[in-house]
Amino acid sequence: MKVIEADNVYPWEGSIKVPQEGEFIKLREDRTLIVPDRPIIPYIEGDGIGCEITPAMILVINTAVEKAYNGSKRIVWVEALAGDKAEEKTGERLPQETLDILKEAVVSIKGPLGTPVGKGVKSINSILRRSFDFYSAVRPVYWMGQPAPIPDPERVDLVVFRENTDDVYAGVEFFPGTEEAKKVREFLLKEMGAKEEGFPEDVGITVKPMSEFKTKRHVRKALRYALENGKKNVAVIGKGNIMKATEGAFINWAFEVAQEPEFRDRVVTDPEAEPGEGQVKLTKVITDQMLMQLVLRPEAYDVIIAENLNGDYVSDLAAALIGGPGFVPSGNIGDGYALFESTHGTAWDIAGKWIANPLSLTLSGAMMLEYIGWKEAAEKVYQAVREALADRIGTPDIANGFKKMGLQAKELGTIEFAKEIAARIQ
Ligand code: NAI
Repeated sequence: MKVIEADNVYPWEGSIKVPQEGEFIKLREDRTLIVPDRPIIPYIEGDGIGCEITPAMILVINTAVEKAYNGSKRIVWVEALAGDKAEEKTGERLPQETLDILKEAVVSIKGPLGTPVGKGVKSINSILRRSFDFYSAVRPVYWMGQPAPIPDPERVDLVVFRENTDDVYAGVEFFPGTEEAKKVREFLLKEMGAKEEGFPEDVGITVKPMSEFKTKRHVRKALRYALENGKKNVAVIGKGNIMKATEGAFINWAFEVAQEPEFRDRVVTDPEAEPGEGQVKLTKVITDQMLMQLVLRPEAYDVIIAENLNGDYVSDLAAALIGGPGFVPSGNIGDGYALFESTHGTAWDIAGKWIANPLSLTLSGAMMLEYIGWKEAAEKVYQAVREALADRIGTPDIANGFKKMGLQAKELGTIEFAKEIAARIQ
């Protein structure tokens, strides 16, 4: 860790240092968190711009925690390696000690990780997702004053819950012209009633499995979030009209969850009824309709529950409405375990210039603070980011956005911008 001088940051030095001053977050049997006042939080810098935006994030989060709790709480940051840096230092892209500390610490944060192009190279992101069963990708999308492509981006304030283990992430594919595709095609034609016209000899076939268990645990997480955070309008989306066995089932399972004892009295499913105090309303919306609604009436939705592929489309469109993925945080969340991360990639084209926008990772840090129950500190981050953007300062992508709108703006490097945000934390 260059740049940031902080005595609560323990960089990797030949191995992971677990400092005496910190304690690990623990999980109760019901998978809720026990958070000590000095939680050890591992951070993975990530590739490309990762080593630039990570210290920026730590600077802002440390300042917010200090101001919110006057030293009675503080994060103990411990570096874990993954990606290029891990390969260079240890010969492995995802060392076992990284997996071990992420498990022990329960909650952690990472910058972007690149996947080298080539056969047989596994994506670290997907290994992490599978290792910790992060079954919900949670993306809050809200506007903080940055340049955006629509005139009234304040209408967007929603959270996308994207299922993270099922559907195309679990699917199998058979490429056209292969023996496998031929075999599957013959099986479908001879034994499963498929028709020749839909399956000519040159087909490629993708199988997308979706399961009741995986869907329901994801839906429960989203409904609990909506109820705990006073979000009223929850939509479950899918192309259930076309893919009845998978996306149709996803929607039906969501409504079954709404009938479970935990939710029955608190989730309104009658399309004509309005949710009362302490209740949410669950509606179903066809995916293409939702994409259109997001552009026309984004204020109508507070939480969107999606399976994997639809969740991908919807979260990117929602992010675009408020200015792009550079402003959107994200969390990969399972049963208690959580890994927060920036939504953009490694941005190799600007790496090394110290001009990367640190907001996606910084807001992911704030989301992490909320997740561990340190809401006062998270709120301070949001407030300071809003103020900095209102003052029209930011990295070149932000400043240029303002300039394109005919507004003056001050261009800053990654760390200078983070310092300006930190200076606005009261
Ligand atoms: P990218 O997000 O890295 O870059 C796309 C464009 O956005 C580039 O012009 C870049 O300069 C710009 N950009 C991205 N982040 C920025 C920031 N913070 N500030 C200013 N400009 C920013 O997407 P790309 O090129 O498709 O992916 C590059 C690598 O990143 C790939 O190896 C990909 O697999 C990986 N990736 C990793 C993710 C993760 O770890 N969660 C997510 C997305 C991509």
